[in-house]
Parts: sequence; structure tokens; C-alpha cells
Amino acid sequence: MEYKFLKTEFKDNGITIMTVSAPKSLNALNSTVLKEIDHFVSNLDTKKTRVLIITGDGEKAFVAGADISEMVHLYEKEGYEFSKLGAIAFRKIETLPIPVIAAVNGFCLGGGCELAMACDFRYASSNAKFGQPEVGLGITPGFSGTYRLAKLVGQGMAKEMIFTSKAIKADEALRIGLVNAVCEPEELMNKVMMTAKRILANAPLAIAHAKRCINESYDLCADDAIELENVAFGKCFATDDQKEGMAAFLEKREAVFGGK
Ligand code: HXC
Repeated sequence: MEYKFLKTEFKDNGITIMTVSAPKSLNALNSTVLKEIDHFVSNLDTKKTRVLIITGDGEKAFVAGADISEMVHLYEKEGYEFSKLGAIAFRKIETLPIPVIAAVNGFCLGGGCELAMACDFRYASSNAKFGQPEVGLGITPGFSGTYRLAKLVGQGMAKEMIFTSKAIKADEALRIGLVNAVCEPEELMNKVMMTAKRILANAPLAIAHAKRCINESYDLCADDAIELENVAFGKCFATDDQKEGMAAFLEKREAVFGGK
């Protein structure tokens, strides 16, 4: 499928970059962009792509939110459908069996922050700004923003960000755990790539199991979460990757994982 608002780059080493590209509106998310994201993620071959990086086009914005010029015309039912469209696409990102890293290169507001939060973790450039400006527009956050922000930074911090609609700078986002690292804008993609390459050296199935355990255990009671991990740990012993990883250690060589 030809995308109007997405640029995709598949690198030979298993890293794929998906760039949201609507420069005239600072990469704002209209329903076409959301459908394109859903299509891209739904059709991603996660045997070939082993790390996905999501970023925004240009130097000014990651994504400046959902498209206000589209939302202005909505009524209750359409508002619900619009939120659900993004929520479904972002949930697909969150549950991909591969790591997804957000490279936040500027404004990361509303739906932009919600997209970044659906990724496994976030690196930001020093010029990035994070915020949930929705209540200033008379709406709540959508695309699962209230759920994920509270999960990431705690309810108190999430409520302050949402109720005040005040944007925070990258260093504050780092302090509250919304991002894992901050660097100069020109270093951002290199830094994300270095982390992606480190991930590529490890066993893909073990990473997929670990991601699922972390994602799912949050909503489980302790006993169920612990059992989920026991089962995942056991399943690793049915993989060639476990045999290779442990043999390589004992033979004092680098492991070469086939993802089987
Ligand atoms: C539509 C947007 C937009 C958006 C920016 N633009 N953000 N269009 N929706 N979310 C457009 C502007 O209208 C403008 O178009 C162009 O992008 C450049 O933006 P400027 O405002 O001129 O740039 P600047 O002065 O540098 O200000 C940047 C900014 C500001 C601070 C990011 O654009 C801004 O406040 N944007 C809105 C941010 C926001 O409220 N996001 C949350 C939306 S609600 P023209 O044609 O004039 O050049 C949301 C809900 C998610 O995300 C959940 C949904 C279910």
C-alpha cells in the first residue's frame, strides 16, 4: 500500500523506521494517518523487522497531536470512533512481538504523546516538549492516553499534566520517567540506532516473551503475573535460541540467534 502520511525505511539489519509525515500540520494525526499506522503495523513482518523505530518528519515535531481541524467537526459518536481508531492502532504497536522505540524529535503533544507512550520506551531530543493539552480544547486525552500516562509516570503526575495542560521539557520528562534518555537533536537517531543494534544481538523470542510478560503482568495479580513469567521462562527452553545462547557462553564465543 502507498502511504500518504507515513515514510517507511526497512534496513538490512532488521531495523525499520516508521516516520509520521504531515509537515504542514506538524505531523498531526488525522484519521487517514491513523488508518495508515494501523495498516503498517498489522502487516509488519516481525521475522524480518526485529526493532521498530517511530519518529516524526522534520526538526520541529514528533507529532503535535490529533488533527484539530478534523476533530472540530465531530459529534459524540464520531468522537468515540476517532478515539477508538487510534486506540486500536496504538494497541497493535504496544503488543507487537518486537521492541518499538519512539525517537521524539520535537513537539510530542496530545495524540503525539499517546503514540510515543504506546512504544516500549522513548528517547527524546533536548528540544522535545511533552504535554496533554486536550482539556484546553474541551476534550479528554484519547488513544488510551489517560491509561498509559498514569501507568508510566504515576497518577499524581499524570493528573497534574492533564489537568493543567502544561507542556514539560525533555529534561523534566526524563526526571519523571516518561523518557529514558535525552540528547542533542542531531544525536537522537544515532543514539536510538545504537540501542536498537544492542537489542538485535539478543534472542528475539526471549525478548518477545519478556515484552509480553512486562505488558501483561501490569494488569494481573501478583500470583498470575509470576506464573505468566514461569511459563514464558519454560517456553524459552523449547527454542534453539536458548541452546545457542547458553552453548555460546560456555564455549566463550558470541551467540548467533536465529529466532527459532
Ligand atoms: C491540526 C495543527 C496541529 C494539530 C499544529 N498544527 N498542531 N493542525 N492539529 N494538532 C498546524 C497549525 O495549525 C499550523 O498550521 C501548523 O501546524 C504550524 O503550527 P503553528 O501553530 O503555526 O506552530 P507554532 O507556533 O510553532 O506552535 C506549535 C504548537 C502549536 C505549540 C505545537 O501548533 C499547537 O499548540 N498545536 C496544537 C497542539 C495540541 O493542542 N495538540 C493536542 C490536540 S488534541 P497553519 O495552516 O496555520 O500553518 C489531541 C487529542 C488526542 O491530540 C486524542 C484523540 C482521540
